[in-house]
Amino acid sequence: MLFWRRNRGNPTRRPIEITGKAESYVGALDVGSHMVKVLIGVRREGGVEIKSVGTAESNGIHDGKIRDVESTVRAIELAVKEAGSLLGIKRISDMPPMVLGIGGDSISSLCSFGLSVVGGDRITRDHITISLETANAVPLSEGHTLIHTEPQEFVVDHQRGIQNPLGMVALRLESWVYLITARSSYVKNLITCAHMAGVEVDKIAAIPVALAKAVLVEDEKELGSVVIDIGENFTHIVIYNKGKLERVASLSVGGYNIIKGISQTLRTSLEDARVLKDNYWEMMEGYGIAEDRVEVPLRGDRGTSTFSVSEIEAVLRKEFETIFSKVNSFLVNNRCKDAIDTGAVITGGNAKIEMVAEVARSMLEMDVRVGIPRFQVDSKLVGTIKSPLYATAAGLLCYGSDTCGVTKGEVLKLKSRTGREEELPMGVKVAGFLI
Ligand SMILES: Nc1ncnc2c1ncn2[C@@H]1O[C@H](COP(=O)(O)OP(=O)(O)OP(=O)(O)O)[C@@H](O)[C@H]1O
Ligand SMILES: [Mg+2]
Repeated sequence: MLFWRRNRGNPTRRPIEITGKAESYVGALDVGSHMVKVLIGVRREGGVEIKSVGTAESNGIHDGKIRDVESTVRAIELAVKEAGSLLGIKRISDMPPMVLGIGGDSISSLCSFGLSVVGGDRITRDHITISLETANAVPLSEGHTLIHTEPQEFVVDHQRGIQNPLGMVALRLESWVYLITARSSYVKNLITCAHMAGVEVDKIAAIPVALAKAVLVEDEKELGSVVIDIGENFTHIVIYNKGKLERVASLSVGGYNIIKGISQTLRTSLEDARVLKDNYWEMMEGYGIAEDRVEVPLRGDRGTSTFSVSEIEAVLRKEFETIFSKVNSFLVNNRCKDAIDTGAVITGGNAKIEMVAEVARSMLEMDVRVGIPRFQVDSKLVGTIKSPLYATAAGLLCYGSDTCGVTKGEVLKLKSRTGREEELPMGVKVAGFLI
């Protein structure tokens, strides 16, 4: 018989030697509904090497809302300090500026197009800039701000699928872009929490796009792939096809639903349901398959009850099936399935549950793999960071390094803390990207 124990799997605490200059550090801040994750990397040729990590439980955020500013600030502080301590940095003010991820139900997206009249001449950078600026100049939903703009294709005199029209002779140039917006109040409040924790926020970036940068290879983007990130309150979805961003979305379902399901079926508390979920596979590994019963504390001091391994796995499976059936409905209803040739890549903390790929494969009827950050990681942290849990944070680092295929102007750049110009513009002009 087993009785589970809590094991959060802390990373190695030995200090890490940094060989890069201080200014080559980049930071990522992923304030999730369950966990704040901070990664610090060093810019390397063609990418970034992850050098440090810090985490803290995110008690102040639930369902995509900041419910408690103090707890949120404290969690950010804790995670940043932990990441700093691995590098021997004692004060938060000495940490590098961070890229802050924005996701959950605060984000929405739309397609837009812009036009520039070329009049039979050769297309110049100015033509491209004008067409992109007009594409960005769309009325956004009330209270939303533009956080990401990604050119999908240019159309030169009705010829579609052009990636760089510079120098072509044309009458007109159209640019098609995919815009991601976020609720301004959420963005402002999250930035405020980061500032209150002493963090300098350099840029904000859309979480779904960051995810794709962290885990997808070029072929997957070209042939069509979907990343499904199962966090605590949200499941982020991002689809790439023909090398371009096709769609992002976030569904309000995640690990918390699994925990509620376990708690209801096994009559255990929400907290114990989480402990069981997050430690189940490690625990089974430690004890071997001969131990086939698990002792579970019942809710409200009612003692304990034992369940067979197959009963527990059936609960987990049922909850995952519910999540993937919602993902599948989204893909079907939005006619996305035909765009996904190479299959799905699953990330987020819940992708650590071993059965995830198998359930996803049968529910989505496509090839499935679990995604881990593709970047270089300091050898002491490989065991921790090469995990689906860090996909978002690793993707955010890309925006700090500008070396992972980030297009100029893709994200909203903020002025530094000392610059005082912190107000978010409502709709950002993204002139000059791609050129
Ligand atoms: N080893 C593990 N096994 C199973 N589940 C885990 C494990 N570690 C974390 N989780 C679960 O993963 C979830 C947290 O994952 P993640 O950090 O990706 O979410 P988040 O970013 O905090 O939330 P969201 O993206 O919804 O805002 C929680 O539901 C947690 O219980
Ligand atoms: Mg997350």
